[in-house]
Amino acid sequence: TTLNKIIIAIDGFSSTGKSTVAKQLAKNLNYIYVDTGAMYRAVAYFALEHDLIGDDFFKEDALVNRLEDISINFKFNIEAGFAEVYLNGKNIESAIRTLRVSKFVSPVATLSAVRRKLVEQQQLMGKDKGIVMDGRDIGTVVFPEAELKIFMTASAETRAKRRYKELLDRGHNLSYDDVLENVTTRDHIDSTREDSPLIKAEDAIEIDNSDLTIEEQLETIVGLANRLII
Ligand code: DC
Repeated sequence: TTLNKIIIAIDGFSSTGKSTVAKQLAKNLNYIYVDTGAMYRAVAYFALEHDLIGDDFFKEDALVNRLEDISINFKFNIEAGFAEVYLNGKNIESAIRTLRVSKFVSPVATLSAVRRKLVEQQQLMGKDKGIVMDGRDIGTVVFPEAELKIFMTASAETRAKRRYKELLDRGHNLSYDDVLENVTTRDHIDSTREDSPLIKAEDAIEIDNSDLTIEEQLETIVGLANRLII
């Protein structure tokens, strides 16, 4: 029998643990995993590197004019077990995980020209299905016809605690309050922007994972996926 390949869209607020679950889900199903947040982070990283955005300025037009100089792709890293993101040939997987990039990515992601470019690339990556994609607008804009849509939520405090621990583990020196502030600010910008705001698709299944382990989340989603695949 041949299995029916599907598209799995996982959307939700910042630091809900979407990518952790999405990565393992893709591994279980032998699907491709795409972290679309990494693509927006790559554009923000480019903007920071070229002084197009900073604490008190944002040269939106200049960034839009340079979009064709931005080439983003993913390469599978066997040791890591997932595809890492590259900007113009340079591996930026860890460089985009700083609080600085997190701070500037939401304003960058409000730009329609940026979204158009990245959405087009995302649609191409998913054209053969067999893909797990996580982000903010996957079930609403990128793949409104996705067979399975998950909307992940958790309280802001739960999410900030997870993020804080993750950043500390990676050796970053920062305060919990700064992380919580970043999480709530991003929630606000992401869900109130005009173009493709973060909203739950009508047919998405909501999972509040504040009190769920990764295994419990996986079990739920794999169960839902298997009903559609087999
Ligand atoms: O998932 P993440 O935290 O790495 O995403 C970083 C930012 O990118 C997020 O604050 C909003 C933006 N984003 C988006 O606008 N659309 C997506 N599909 C994914 C991310």
